[in-house]
Amino acid sequence: MNIKLKIWRQKNKNTKGHFEEYSMSGVEEHMSFLEVLDLLNEQLFQAGQEPVAFDSDCREGICGQCGVVINGQAHGPIRSTTCQLHMRHLAEDPSFKDGSTITIEPWRSTGFPVLRDLVVDRSALDRIVQAGGYISVNTGAAPDAHAVPVQKDKAEAAFEAAACIGCGACVAACPNASAMLFTGAKVAHLGLLPQGQPERLNRVVNMLNQHDEEGFGGCTNIGECAAVCPKSVPLEVIARLNRDLGRALWKGTVAHS
Ligand code: SF4
Ligand code: FES
Repeated sequence: MNIKLKIWRQKNKNTKGHFEEYSMSGVEEHMSFLEVLDLLNEQLFQAGQEPVAFDSDCREGICGQCGVVINGQAHGPIRSTTCQLHMRHLAEDPSFKDGSTITIEPWRSTGFPVLRDLVVDRSALDRIVQAGGYISVNTGAAPDAHAVPVQKDKAEAAFEAAACIGCGACVAACPNASAMLFTGAKVAHLGLLPQGQPERLNRVVNMLNQHDEEGFGGCTNIGECAAVCPKSVPLEVIARLNRDLGRALWKGTVAHS
């Protein structure tokens, strides 16, 4: 395949970015999207030009490092992480032809400043977790955990929420740049388990305050976040978060700014 890549280039968070176009030949349909970027970087390096900065680590859909916006969609046209996207997935689109241009941008959100090219600073998500994503009870070793009964439906819902890998695609896809799906996932996966009860109400308020402080927007139930989430975290976690917030405010034990 011959393709053109239109890529966002930006030196650092204090400079203005712009798109640059690169023509590539010899791209094969079994290549992963990140392998195409690797190939481009080899070519740029050999030509004495600056390689394109992008994040990746596991390349197996586990770590959540690799997100970019591809042709306007967070992680591209299929529901996966960018590292699990292959050129054949793009080629399946009827509008894709030999020589097509693929546009690649970083996540766009006040909460995710661009550090360089396609790399954004996602430490805001870590700070949300630090604000409340922990438990204080001693859970003991694995046999002790097995001894604590958890209803099957709650265990499954907690597991579904815990699948979140913190990639940030939900923020990138949301027109409000809200991180509520991420925050809801973290609130739900602890709040559904017996071990997560002592901090339950403080957790939701502290995490939401941090969410707002980081510059993420509010949720208006559009659902783009859940539609792009590579781990299928359901929208329902936001409803759980709102229920916990309502309870916390009603009890008046904590204040949400
Ligand atoms: S909720 Fe889904 S899209 Fe959002 S950070 Fe977690 S895994 Fe990524
Ligand atoms: S590189 Fe780890 S999820 Fe993509």
